[in-house]
Amino acid sequence: MSAEPTDRVAGLKLEVEGAVATVTLMRRERRNAMTPSMWRGLAQVPGRLSGDVRVVVVAGDGPSFCAGIDLRMFTPEGVPGEDRGLSPSDPGFDAQLAGYQAGFRWLRDPAIVSIAAVRGHAIGAGFQLALACDLRVLADDAQLCMKEPALGLVPDLTGTKPLVDIVGLPRAVELCLTARTIDAAEAARLGLAERVVPAAELDDAVRELAKELQTADPAAARATKALLAHAHERSLDEQAVAERAAQARLLQARPADQQVQPTQAVSG
Ligand code: CAA
Repeated sequence: MSAEPTDRVAGLKLEVEGAVATVTLMRRERRNAMTPSMWRGLAQVPGRLSGDVRVVVVAGDGPSFCAGIDLRMFTPEGVPGEDRGLSPSDPGFDAQLAGYQAGFRWLRDPAIVSIAAVRGHAIGAGFQLALACDLRVLADDAQLCMKEPALGLVPDLTGTKPLVDIVGLPRAVELCLTARTIDAAEAARLGLAERVVPAAELDDAVRELAKELQTADPAAARATKALLAHAHERSLDEQAVAERAAQARLLQARPADQQVQPTQAVSG
């Protein structure tokens, strides 16, 4: 399949090769600092993908994954071409933020597995973008930082939940309130990186992981991801019920001539 490139004005590039789509932040001269247009552009990406896409890679052009929000948004001059956005007292403020968050939330869709390919800095909104993905592959020069509280903000681009889910509440509090930078080795220890590779090997490592992720049957992969995603909200009893229901749905949806063969089932 093919996809139209996303709006380059929004600073994004979308490429599709087989079942793998790659969304690249294209503002290398600003270390891929993000603007509201980019968040809105990200929210449009899933609408441009066909059902054949199984893996979405999110990457940054140049030496940094993403240096967070474009800090000029907070200056009187602003960013050329960007509107100022609503103030918190405007009735549409909440909906505006929800629209920005939509650019991050689709990356959890069970129909795809998303991978953040992180080299260099992932700061603030950039760290949240990496957290919005299912998996993170880090170059060994990666540096992650949740900078928002240090700037007088809360992280509001959906990053707080995955951060707590992955590192636990005490560590999440420590990381956010100190706004300290985590290197790739610590990120791996904290569970924030599935793989850490030399920077020169990042693209190959992501390509390899994308390939490995496609070895599972597509429908089983989708159903398994949905099951896993809700496991932490359920008791063991509830999860057992969900597993049975998911298995029944999966098998019922499959044509009779494509059911699991006994030999496959035995060999696991
Ligand atoms: N906004 C706008 N411009 C940025 C930027 C940002 N967030 N980050 C980098 N740039 C620009 C720099 O101004 C510089 O531009 P010029 O060449 O015109 O001077 C260019 O990108 C290269 O940056 P540096 O020379 O600083 O590159 P470096 O490698 O020495 O440092 C960096 C890289 C550590 C990312 C540093 O640029 C930096 O600290 N940037 C700011 C990071 C930041 O605080 N981001 C906000 C996070 S909070 C957030 O994101 C809130 C939210 O979601 C609402």
